[in-house]
Parts: sequence; structure tokens; C-alpha cells
Amino acid sequence: MIQETIITTQNSEGQAHLAPMGIHVQNDEFIILPFRPSTTLDNLLSSRTAVINYCDDVRIFAGCLTGHRDWPLSAAEKINGVFLSAALAHCEVEIIRVEEDEIRPKLFCKTIHQVQHHPFQGFNRAQFSVLEAAILLSRVNHLPIEKIESELNYLSIGFEKTAGPREQEAWQWVTSAIQEKLNKAKHL
Ligand SMILES: Cc1cc2nc3c(=O)[nH]c(=O)nc-3n(C[C@H](O)[C@H](O)[C@H](O)COP(=O)(O)O)c2cc1C
Repeated sequence: MIQETIITTQNSEGQAHLAPMGIHVQNDEFIILPFRPSTTLDNLLSSRTAVINYCDDVRIFAGCLTGHRDWPLSAAEKINGVFLSAALAHCEVEIIRVEEDEIRPKLFCKTIHQVQHHPFQGFNRAQFSVLEAAILLSRVNHLPIEKIESELNYLSIGFEKTAGPREQEAWQWVTSAIQEKLNKAKHL
């Protein structure tokens, strides 16, 4: 199974970095798969630790891809790192093995410490729509314009019916960024 999470890492100067990543869950191991080049990958290879944040505030997913990166962070408990203050839960992990790859290395991690902060509030279709739109934004240069437009149209159905203020803000960031890139592509 793949879980959509926010990975927090730190560089050697202690500067925190946030990135949405779909992590693979395999028995009691997690596999983080960053595409090169990646700050998350560089930080993970140097520090050997990371935090997996389980978060339902989709503004953070959207924000990482649209320049809104300044989210409150708190110190991790068992590793040198940070977690998102908005996380429902977080998991502090350590790399146990790396499978090298020129495009997308696999970083196998084991849990050092796990903390539950808030209860899971149930599924929300607008959150799904924002995540899918954010993925479209991260691939906008590799997909045909018609596909992006038709997927956004479909995603807007669940979004319109179920969004709250956080989802509306996140949707606005992502769809504006997609529109900007599509306009540029149309004028090339
Ligand atoms: C829901 C979601 C899941 C993502 N999963 C991955 C992933 O597994 N690997 C990856 O390299 N990028 C993934 N991305 C895109 C990255 O978050 C984004 O490109 C980011 O800039 C990664 O590069 P960085 O480590 O340099 O920050 C995902 C984006 C979203 C919105």
C-alpha cells in the first residue's frame, strides 16, 4: 500500500525540509522513493533519519508545491529532526538499507518512535481532489493539456460538494499554479 504523507528531513546545518511523498508500506518497513534530484534524498542520505507525517491539512501538500512552505514545526522526540505541528500522527524513522537507482532510489526505513496527536476525522473527497490536483501539478510538464483539464474537471465534482476552508485555499493554490503553467505552455 502507498500512503500519501509529508516527509520532514534536515540538512547538516539543521535546516528543515518538507516534501509530500507517497511512501510504500511493506510489512513493518517503510520505503521512501524520491525522484532525483531531491533535497529529501540528499538530507536522508546524510542524516539517515526522517519523520513521516500523517496529516489531513491538504494546504501543506499543496503548499509545498506552490511556495507556501512555512508551516509550524516541533522537535522530534527520539531523533534529531522535526515533525509538523499539524500532523495527526508522526513516525520517526531511520534508514536501514538503500537500493540505488539513477532515477528513483529506494530508501528502506524502520520505525524508531511513533506518536498519535489527534484522532483521524474520516475521509473527505475534497482532500482527495486536492492531493490528485497537486500530483497533476508536479507532472504538468509531462502530461497532455487535455488530460490535465479533463482530470481537473472530474476532481472538481467531489471538491465542490465537500470542501471546507482549508481545502478551498489549497485547491486555489494548486489550480492557479496549474493554470499558470498551462498558459505558459500554450504561448510557447
Ligand atoms: C501526494 C504527493 C505525493 C508525492 N510523492 C512523491 C514521491 O513519492 N517521490 C517524489 O520524488 N516526489 C513525490 N511527489 C512530488 C514531490 O513532493 C515534489 O516534487 C518535491 O519537490 C520533491 O522534491 P524534494 O525532495 O527536492 O523536495 C509527490 C507529490 C504529491 C503532491
